[in-house]
Amino acid sequence: MYEGKIAAVILAAGRGTRMKSALPKVLHAVVGLPMVLFPARLAKALGCDPTVLVVGHEAAAVKSALAGEGLQFALQEEQLGTGHALLCAREQLADFTGTLLLLCGDVPLLRAETLERLLAFHQAQTATVTVLTAEMTDPHGYGRIVRDGEEVLRIVEEKDASLKEKAIREINTGIYAFEAPFVFEALGKVGRDNAQGEYYLTDVLALARAAGRKVCALVAGDPEETMGINDRIQLARAGLLMRRRINAALMRSGVTLVDPATAYIEPQVRIGEDTVVHPGVHLRGATVIGRDCLIEPGAMLIDSALADRVHIKAGSVIEGSEIGTGSVIGPMAHLRPGNHLAGENKVGNFVEMKKARLGRKSQASHLTYIGDAVVGERVNFGCGTITCNYDGVNKYQTTVGDDVFVGSDVQFIAPVSIGSGSVIGAGSTITKDVPADALAISRSEQKNIEGWAAKRRAKRQKIN
Ligand code: UD1
Ligand code: CA
Repeated sequence: MYEGKIAAVILAAGRGTRMKSALPKVLHAVVGLPMVLFPARLAKALGCDPTVLVVGHEAAAVKSALAGEGLQFALQEEQLGTGHALLCAREQLADFTGTLLLLCGDVPLLRAETLERLLAFHQAQTATVTVLTAEMTDPHGYGRIVRDGEEVLRIVEEKDASLKEKAIREINTGIYAFEAPFVFEALGKVGRDNAQGEYYLTDVLALARAAGRKVCALVAGDPEETMGINDRIQLARAGLLMRRRINAALMRSGVTLVDPATAYIEPQVRIGEDTVVHPGVHLRGATVIGRDCLIEPGAMLIDSALADRVHIKAGSVIEGSEIGTGSVIGPMAHLRPGNHLAGENKVGNFVEMKKARLGRKSQASHLTYIGDAVVGERVNFGCGTITCNYDGVNKYQTTVGDDVFVGSDVQFIAPVSIGSGSVIGAGSTITKDVPADALAISRSEQKNIEGWAAKRRAKRQKIN
């Protein structure tokens, strides 16, 4: 266990040319979150104080994506290399004398345990610099760790490496623990006389040795964890590995994933025991699902809360809604934000809801729109009910009491209030409030003209 103060610097100023994107690389999403959020939250979890994010390319966009994460920002106006990037955080860390953890904004898979191991090792070795390394089958593109036996001599970049050095398979992950005051002092001496004309952070290792300081390297157990994302192939790979982690943890905790390869579940989602998630389901944002729920194929849930024993049928989309115990939703229902269903509700196919409250056991089984409505208990909406809540300028509310029976094809022209126990006749357009226990009906009277159709048939036959 590492004891003492830790600060973190996360490098995120680069453009990420190989992404071929208008979006800065570090904002590309891995399991729904900008990749730079992963090292930022890791730093927070480890208690780093402060954590400084070095931004440059599209700085404003990166800063606003990370607002509220408790970070400090340093600006690197020109991207002159990793050494220069760290120097840009010097002011914020001027009085900091503990261990500086250097992370990269494009390495999202790193685990807290690995960094804890790095920090403990760095301290136990009383090292000035400890670099996290990995053994790669294909080390191409990475800086190589040049050793003399156990001793780490320096890091050489791919573009500056000799043939012999290129054969080295131990690579620099770009993650380090530094003695903070030393690294800033040493960076002042780093030049840019190399193949890329950049200020290399990696040059600090050789400078530390030259100053008689101890330089160490710790090999990460799992090389994939330290994978840096440079292109969209690696982005997809990182997403896949992250999903495997999330899904494995859920299955261990008692959730059935019928096909974990096609369960797309974001990291903050919580799911209770014995819930079954079918293939092709997306569970996003702050979604919370209770026990014993069933989520059928192709459902998408965003920022929603499901109590226990809720059944979401195939193809339903639910956003920003709360759904009470024992409710059945779908197939192909669409709950837009702001719904609250008290429990044992049934919302069937092609029903759309928005900002609506349903009391217990109220239901709308088919082809209905309920928006801006407060509905009591045991209400039945017939097929094709519409709350006409919008006049093109303002939104109005529909209020429905308990035990109301709404026939098929009814329009409620809001604002309108329907009393408890009333019945609304099928095909009615309701423009006025309905008292409790009344029948409301508004259709023009039906006329039957005897023999009319037969006469028309006869006329047509004659013409032909
Ligand atoms: C760097 C290392 C290399 C290591 C590799 C691991 C150096 C000189 N090389 O190489 O040894 O194997 O990472 O992935 O350090 N960045 C800035 N400002 C800059 C340049 C980079 O903020 O001026 C940031 C990038 O946004 C990125 C990180 O630093 O998050 C790494 O930069 P990148 O250009 O990808 O470095 P590599 O050439 O891959
Ligand atoms: Ca890189």
